[in-house]
Amino acid sequence: MTTQTISAARTLRGTVHVPGDKSISHRAVIFNAFAEGNAEIHNFLPGADCLSSIACLRQLGVQIEQRGDHVKVFGRGLRGLREPNNVLDCGNSGTTMRLLAGLLAGQPFLSVLTGDDSLRSRPQRRIVAPLRELGASIDGRDNARFAPLVIRGGSIRGGSYALTIASAQVKSALLLAGLNAAGPLQLTGRLDSRDHTERMLTAMGIDLTSNAEGLLLYPPSHPVFPYPLSLTVPGDPSSAAFWWVAAAIHPDAEITTPNVCLNPTRTGALDVLLAMGADISISNERSEGAEPVGDVTVRSSGLRGTRIDGALIPRLIDEIPVLAVAAAHAAGETVVADAEELRAKETDRIATVASELRALGAEVAATADGLIIAGGGELHGAPVQSHGDHRLAMAWAIAGLVAEGQTAIADADAVSVSYPNFWESLHTLQV
Ligand code: S3P
Repeated sequence: MTTQTISAARTLRGTVHVPGDKSISHRAVIFNAFAEGNAEIHNFLPGADCLSSIACLRQLGVQIEQRGDHVKVFGRGLRGLREPNNVLDCGNSGTTMRLLAGLLAGQPFLSVLTGDDSLRSRPQRRIVAPLRELGASIDGRDNARFAPLVIRGGSIRGGSYALTIASAQVKSALLLAGLNAAGPLQLTGRLDSRDHTERMLTAMGIDLTSNAEGLLLYPPSHPVFPYPLSLTVPGDPSSAAFWWVAAAIHPDAEITTPNVCLNPTRTGALDVLLAMGADISISNERSEGAEPVGDVTVRSSGLRGTRIDGALIPRLIDEIPVLAVAAAHAAGETVVADAEELRAKETDRIATVASELRALGAEVAATADGLIIAGGGELHGAPVQSHGDHRLAMAWAIAGLVAEGQTAIADADAVSVSYPNFWESLHTLQV
């Protein structure tokens, strides 16, 4: 376990090429694993989470060559995966566990999914209950609340399911199960989470459409589907958000993050920073594969507090730790509400964000579904914990760039889950 010590930066200037998007990298390897042919992925995120997906897919008989951010996947088709001869270790990655649970629910063999202490304490009923309704045979520890999950696959009927939480992992698990179902799958309810699965499956030739009720998926009827999909993964807006906040709260800063995914289901942090008064420009907007991308530049800004709630929450759920840092620095109060999902992340991010921001001198109250941050006070450096949560380690580093004195972040190597070269980028910006 390493500790990183951050001091206030004199200036922050430069361009940061953030790594490939985590959600899209997972999907690129998982979906191409069951494609009818081979695909090449560029700018793949070689973070621990996405490497967990690759390791599990290899155990399912998929040949994958990975060198840094370049990956070749040799697809085995929807019926070509094989029973793993050991448990599948998803590490820290909720996306690996939940997407694979959906895929494996439709495969005619037994699989067991497990993960690290954090992942084994995260809720899994949210996928177990709907997958069972679609016909899956799936069980887990503590009456299926937690992993390890045991899946005896191959019995998906299809049908209809109304999602009650806006979770892309749940939505994706059901769509992946639906690919091997006996009939069509209609999803309704909270579908307003990130839509990378829908975009990618459609690009692979899967019959997945929006109708008046929600999303309608037909399992592929011809063996040419799904086509393989080669792609360049756009930069991760959830990683870029650390630099956007750093530039906005620092008095002498200008940072550009080129080629960032600007999918509207992911750009809530930009909307909130704009509402707080941040100086942001977006250029070079274009499409890359199935996703909109662009270059984002943020300059020193005088931020004011805001309200973050409702439909915004799914569009920025992973960015709340660093937005809380922006709020602590802003003039006036910021309220985060409707964000009880934060309690189901890598840590209970309502509790951990409140306790560590308080250690840095901010006035923060934790509520049942969010945070109230007074704002306006000076942050002062202090020993803080990442709690093994990658996004907390990075959020405290950004706070340290404007805090008085030294901020010592314990368990700082957690960043490798989603941003392996985060510390290098942090140093190159301090010219
Ligand atoms: C993800 C979905 C989100 C997000 C996570 C990645 C995905 O989780 O927090 O980091 O790739 O589908 P939920 O689906 O639980 O909201």
